Amino acid sequence: MSQYCPPRSPNKNLSRRSFLRATMVTATLASGNLAVGCNNAGDDEDTRPLQDGAAYFPQSVVSGDPRQDSVIVWTRLEDPDLAADADAEVKLELASDAEFTTLVELDGETGTLAPAKAMYDRCVKVKVRGLEPATTYYYRFIHSRDDGRFVSPVGRTRTAPAADADAKLRFAVVSCQDFNGRYYNGYARMAAEELDFFVHLGDYIYETTGDPSFQKTGGRVATFTDKAGAIAFNAGTDKEYFAAQSLSNYRELYRTYRSDLALRKIHETVPMIATWDDHEFTDDCHGDIATYYDGRQDETSTERRKAANQAWFEYMPVDFQEEDFEYDPAAAFPGDIQIYRDFGFGKHMRLVMTDLRSHRTDHLIPEDAFPGAVVLTQAELMAELGELPASASEYVDIDSYAGGTYKAVLVAAASELDYDPAKITGNLDVAYINSTLAKLDSADVDPITDLAGLERGLAFRHLGKLSTHASIGARYLVIKEAFDLWATINYKKSGGKTQDAMGPEQQAWFLDTMKGAKETWKLWGNEFCLVPLVIDLTPLPIQPFNQVFYMNVDQWDGMRDRRNELLGELVKLDNVVALTGDIHAFYAGVPGLNADPKQHITELVTSGISSGTFRTQLVLQVAADPILSMTAGASELADSIDTLFTKSGTNRHLAHADSSHNGFMTVELDGQAIVATYHAIAEPDIFVDLEGEPAEALAAKFTSERFKVEAGSRELYKEIAGAWKRWDYDTFSYV
Ligand SMILES: [Fe+2]
Repeated sequence: MSQYCPPRSPNKNLSRRSFLRATMVTATLASGNLAVGCNNAGDDEDTRPLQDGAAYFPQSVVSGDPRQDSVIVWTRLEDPDLAADADAEVKLELASDAEFTTLVELDGETGTLAPAKAMYDRCVKVKVRGLEPATTYYYRFIHSRDDGRFVSPVGRTRTAPAADADAKLRFAVVSCQDFNGRYYNGYARMAAEELDFFVHLGDYIYETTGDPSFQKTGGRVATFTDKAGAIAFNAGTDKEYFAAQSLSNYRELYRTYRSDLALRKIHETVPMIATWDDHEFTDDCHGDIATYYDGRQDETSTERRKAANQAWFEYMPVDFQEEDFEYDPAAAFPGDIQIYRDFGFGKHMRLVMTDLRSHRTDHLIPEDAFPGAVVLTQAELMAELGELPASASEYVDIDSYAGGTYKAVLVAAASELDYDPAKITGNLDVAYINSTLAKLDSADVDPITDLAGLERGLAFRHLGKLSTHASIGARYLVIKEAFDLWATINYKKSGGKTQDAMGPEQQAWFLDTMKGAKETWKLWGNEFCLVPLVIDLTPLPIQPFNQVFYMNVDQWDGMRDRRNELLGELVKLDNVVALTGDIHAFYAGVPGLNADPKQHITELVTSGISSGTFRTQLVLQVAADPILSMTAGASELADSIDTLFTKSGTNRHLAHADSSHNGFMTVELDGQAIVATYHAIAEPDIFVDLEGEPAEALAAKFTSERFKVEAGSRELYKEIAGAWKRWDYDTFSYV
C-alpha cells in the first residue's frame, strides 16, 4: 500500500500558522506542465506529473473573507494511509488563470507548504496576503505521496476592490441550508450568477439528523459515525434521531454538507463571508445553553458548545480579527473564539458581521415558567402606567393565602400536572389557580371566588404562557402588549442587562465600526429579523388566542428595547441596511424606533437555501403543540400567515412577506443605490435534486422580486410592473 511521503524539509518561510505573502510573477511554463512546482517549495524539485487527487480532498476547496489584499483558502486532506494522529502538509499553488500557466509566487516560491494538522481534522487554512485588489485568482492544493502527486479541484476566488475604488459590487446573501431530505437548488441557480462573493448568515449546518418537529425524515440524511457521542432522541424507536454533541459529530456534519455538489461548486467559484446562527451549535441557543427540553433539565453544555466552535473554526474560511487566531480547545467559553468582524469593499460598502448567539442573554420568558406566576404586581404596574391595564387580574400570595391550604394542594398536584412544585410560591394568579384546580379529579379546596380586596397584576399567562415546559408562550407566540410592558420594565430595572444580544464588547465594537465607516453603504450582516413580526388575532373567535402576538421572540422582537437602543444609534447614520437570514422567509421592511417608528433603517431578509419555510414550520408547530393543535382554526391561520402579516396593519414596517419560498438574494450596489433581487423557489422543488438541470429549466423554477434603496434616502422601493414604488408606512402600501 502507498504511504504518505512527508516533506523532506520545511519551508524556511513557513510560519507555524502559515501566513503567506504573495507577489505576482509570470510563469514561463506551458499549460499542463507543472514541473516547476517544487514538492518542498525550494527544496528538491518534484517533477512527477500531477494526478487527479479529488479523493484526497473530499470536501474540495473553499475560499472566504476577501479583502483588498488577502483571501483565505481552505481544503481538507484525507488520506487513509496517514496514521490518525499524524500531521501532514499540502502544497498550495496560486495562479492568475485556471490552467495555472501564470503562477503567483508565494513567499518567493512557486508554491508553499501548508499544515494539515491532525488536531484540526487535517483542515488546511491559509491566508494569502499581498494580493492585488479586485482580482480573480485560482488556487489548488497538492498532496505528495510516494506513488505520485495528487492535485485538488481548482478553486476560483476574488479579492475586494481597493478602498478608494468607485466599484460596483454584486454579491449574494444566503442562510439556512438544512441537508436532510432537501437539496441546494438555490446554490445550483446561484452558480449562474456572476458574483464577487456571497454572505452566509448562518445555519450552514443543522445539528440534528431529522428532528420531525421541523425537519424532513425521508430522503438524504446526515448521520453520525460517533453515535455514542451524540444526543439521541426517541432512542431505540423507529423515530430515533440524533443531535451533534462530540467534536466528531460536528465535523462530520460539515463533511456531509459539503458532499453536496451544488454547495461545492459555489465554494469552488465564489468566496464566502460567514457568521453563525443557532444551528451551528444547537436550535434556539443562547451562549452554551440548548433548548430541546424546554426547561425540563439543565441544558448547559460548555463542552458541546466548544466542540461546535472548534469545528466551525476548522471548516469555515474565516479571517479572524485576531489575525493569527488558532482555536485552543483548552480556552474557556465564550472567550474561546471571536467571530465578529468587518470588511471594506471599495468606496461604497462596509460589511459588518455580528455574532448574535454567543453572548446573548436567555429568552426573557423561561420555557418552564409557571403560567400563574405573577411577573408584574399592582404596585409595579401603577408605578409604570399610573393605572392598571384592563387585562390585569387578581392574585394571591400562595405561601400565606388561606393559611397555605391552596399551596399544599398545588404542590401535591405538581407531578400529576407536570410542573415543578418549587414554583408554587409567591404571588400566583387566581384565575390560573382555579383552572389548575379544575384539572384535578378531586381537590380538597374550592376555587377562589372571593376576589374583593385582592391586588391585580400580570402573570406569565398574560404574556402567552399556557403550559409549563413549552416553547409556545416562551420563544414563540407571545402576547405583544404585556410582553412589551414587562420586557421594558425589566430592561430599565436591570440597567439594560436583560435583552443583551451582542455582549458589551461586541456591541461597542459594532456601533463604533458602523459609525466610523466612511463607505457609502453600511451593511449589517445580521442573523435574525429586526422588523417586528406581529399578528393580530383579536377579531377571531379563538380563545385564548384572540390577542396580538409576536410570532417569534428568539429574534429581535424578544429584545425590543435593545433593538431600540441600537436602532437609535443607527438611524443617525446614512445608508444603513441590515441583511438578515434565520427566519426561512423573504421579508423586506423598515425597522424603526419603538416610540417613533418613522425613524428607521431598511432591512432585506433572505429565505433559507433549503430549510423548511417559515409557513411550513409554523404549521408543524401548531400541530405539535398540545393546546394549539386542539384549537379550531389555528392550523388554517398558520397556513395563511402572510395574509395575517400584510393585511392586519400591525406590521406597517413590513413591506414584503413571503413565508413559503426558499431561495437566496442577490445584491447590486454602487454609490447611488442598492438593488436586491429575491430569487424564490417553491418548497416542493427543494425536495428534488435539480443540480444537473439545464440552466434555463432551473431558472424557470424561480420567481423574482426586486427591491431598491437609494443612497441618501431611507425609503424602500419595490419593483411593481416595471416601476419602482415606495413603501408608505402610513397606508402600509406601495405608492
Ligand atoms: Fe435556520
